[in-house]
Amino acid sequence: MTDIHDTTATPEELAASAVEALDLADRAALGGGASFWRTKDVPGVPSVTMSDGPHGVRYQAAAGDHLGVGASDPATCFPPAVGLAQSWDPELAGRVGAALADEAQAAGLGVLLGPGINIKRDPRCGRNFEYFSEDPLLTGVLATEWVRGLQARGVGASLKHFAANNAEHDRMRASSDVDDRPLREIYLRAFERVVRDAAPWTVMCSYNRVNGVLASQNHWLLTQVLREEWGFEGAVVSDWGAVADRVAAVAAGLDLQMPGDTAADDAQVVAAVEAGELAVAAVDRAARAVARVSHLARTTRRDVVVDVDAHHALAREAAGRSTVLLKNEGGLLPLAPSGTIAVVGAFASEPRYQGGGSSHVSPTRVDVPIDEIRSLAGDADVSFAPGFTTDGTGDADALRAEAVEAASAADVAVVFLGLAASQESEGFDREHIELPDEQVALLEAVASAQPRTVVVLSAGGVLRLAPVDAVAPAILSGSLLGQAGGGAIADVLFGHVNPSGRLAETMPLRIEDAPSFGNFPGEHSRVRYGEGIHVGYRGYDLRARDVLYAFGHGLSYTTFAYDGIALEADAEGVRARVEVRNTGDRAGREIVQLYASLPGSSITRAPRELVGFGSIDLAAGEQGTVEIRVERRDLAYWDDRLDRWIVEGGTYRIAAAASSRDLRLEADVEVGGDDAAVPFDLESTIGELMAHPVAAQVIGAAFAPVMEQFDAGGDALGMDMARMMASVPIGRAMKSFGGADPAALAQVQAMLDGINATPRND
Ligand code: BGC
Repeated sequence: MTDIHDTTATPEELAASAVEALDLADRAALGGGASFWRTKDVPGVPSVTMSDGPHGVRYQAAAGDHLGVGASDPATCFPPAVGLAQSWDPELAGRVGAALADEAQAAGLGVLLGPGINIKRDPRCGRNFEYFSEDPLLTGVLATEWVRGLQARGVGASLKHFAANNAEHDRMRASSDVDDRPLREIYLRAFERVVRDAAPWTVMCSYNRVNGVLASQNHWLLTQVLREEWGFEGAVVSDWGAVADRVAAVAAGLDLQMPGDTAADDAQVVAAVEAGELAVAAVDRAARAVARVSHLARTTRRDVVVDVDAHHALAREAAGRSTVLLKNEGGLLPLAPSGTIAVVGAFASEPRYQGGGSSHVSPTRVDVPIDEIRSLAGDADVSFAPGFTTDGTGDADALRAEAVEAASAADVAVVFLGLAASQESEGFDREHIELPDEQVALLEAVASAQPRTVVVLSAGGVLRLAPVDAVAPAILSGSLLGQAGGGAIADVLFGHVNPSGRLAETMPLRIEDAPSFGNFPGEHSRVRYGEGIHVGYRGYDLRARDVLYAFGHGLSYTTFAYDGIALEADAEGVRARVEVRNTGDRAGREIVQLYASLPGSSITRAPRELVGFGSIDLAAGEQGTVEIRVERRDLAYWDDRLDRWIVEGGTYRIAAAASSRDLRLEADVEVGGDDAAVPFDLESTIGELMAHPVAAQVIGAAFAPVMEQFDAGGDALGMDMARMMASVPIGRAMKSFGGADPAALAQVQAMLDGINATPRND
């Protein structure tokens, strides 16, 4: 066995040699955890400690917690993915990942269980706060940098939850029934990107079934797609408790069953190998994968002392970048540090900044909004009235009356609204997207007493904001911003930070408009993904539904003009250059989004899809160029006949946009297509054959007499017979109208084989 201290050996070599030296029982045992958070310690393979994740380290040092539910050690609570995504800032995501790695190493962790990159299919999913977006490109780009940042500092990621885990309801049994195109183009796409570009040490398989098969036992998912297609070389870890049948799971491609102790299942693996029911190669693969993680963690260990203040400052920077200014009528914001400011709402003193469940972090400290507002308020007098209680107790009328009085006595009111921790969390979905009634009533009363009312929102999931929008001239969406969110909100309110965040999911007018509505959360443990590829803005756009705030929306205290767009296609995709000018009177950051469409496409598509984005910081009056590379793979669709990605050739229209509904400039670019030829056979239609230059000649000649008759007959029937014939398969046309015998059919098939052998571009 290679000496585990041999610094010239790679983790893969160390893993292979350690596993080779183990007997079957130890190899099988490596595929199951030792305890709630640890892998087993066997000769040559030191134990690895893992812990949640994703936006902070939830490390339970306290001995005796075998359930993972006890309190955890203090750690920086960075903005959860719902917040961080609104920064649209991959570089920032990378820095957050790096800071998390330092905290994880200081706690002795080898793997941090994140990021969570499931697509937000429905606004009601209870765990949306842990996920980035409804869009796979935004999700994939941010998560790639997050993983790179983490892993570059020696801590492994666990990309989760693989796959199609888009609801909490019945999450351990439900089957996500998804067609190939949405599965590939929406639900697997971000996973594919992160696996290919950032090589996560581990991927965590989800609890649910995918098209009827548990993810933990899904050979197609864990082996065919993840390893064989995407080249994943890490370990597949189960979500905690996701394994129903370890032998089936190992055969399918699972490497590590968590949590431990898994002694009984380890023994079943040994028995299955001895009975010839499980290939020993699968057990070895799993053991090597776990051993590799152990050696990656060991060889990248550093002595880290966490700078808690620096991390809090980074959390505040990230929270500030992630705050979205939804509305700002009459330039109500930023606030002046003078006069009187009435702060209203319980969330100003009891901030809501993270979600409940396995990702819940014990923060190192918490910025309380009312305190932070007071510290930046300069000469302003700041009053505070809670207005409601987060648990719905108390005298609502009295609380409201007190708040209204404070608001009417002030120059401006800032009202903190949102959802309490009990209203959304891991483990269950919401049934609606409404704000609590008492909060709406409070806002209406405050806004009618004080027209200069600003609303600050804290919630992990999308809310129906129509009642807020109806009365509030200014709205800031914090979503969930982590422990420094209170400071960041004060920074934005007073203009120390000019907001540049953008929505990472659509704010619909009503839940009934959501594309998944009617197919969520399913019944009898099945969820039909009936909206197909039309998820999020793709679906709202397809049905031309008005939305309150579009995907990608977000204002600034300055304004930007888009002066020009230039596109250039090359072998790698499209290079875009967008000229942007700051037309306001203060410095700001603009996020330029590129949406693509292909008019006349031969396949079903969303009206437009995000294919790239970039940002630029500009001083007042300054102009600059944002260069954005659209990667060729991001123009591709999944061809379910060929089972591969295809870029359809044609003239793509690319819009440079400030949101999915605010397209500023458009330009066309010619993109060459991939060979997407589906082999012709006797089931190919006359129309398909006629569209092919060579086939058309042969078929056209062979069918000319029949078509002449049809043309004549068509007149008699009052229809365009040629058009109808276009949809008839050639073999059946020959039988029905030509009296073709088997020899004639074979002759046509031979001719089609000849055409199939010649490359073509469709
Ligand atoms: C969650 C995972 C988490 C794990 C360990 C599960 O319930 O779904 O996201 O990493 O628990 O806490």
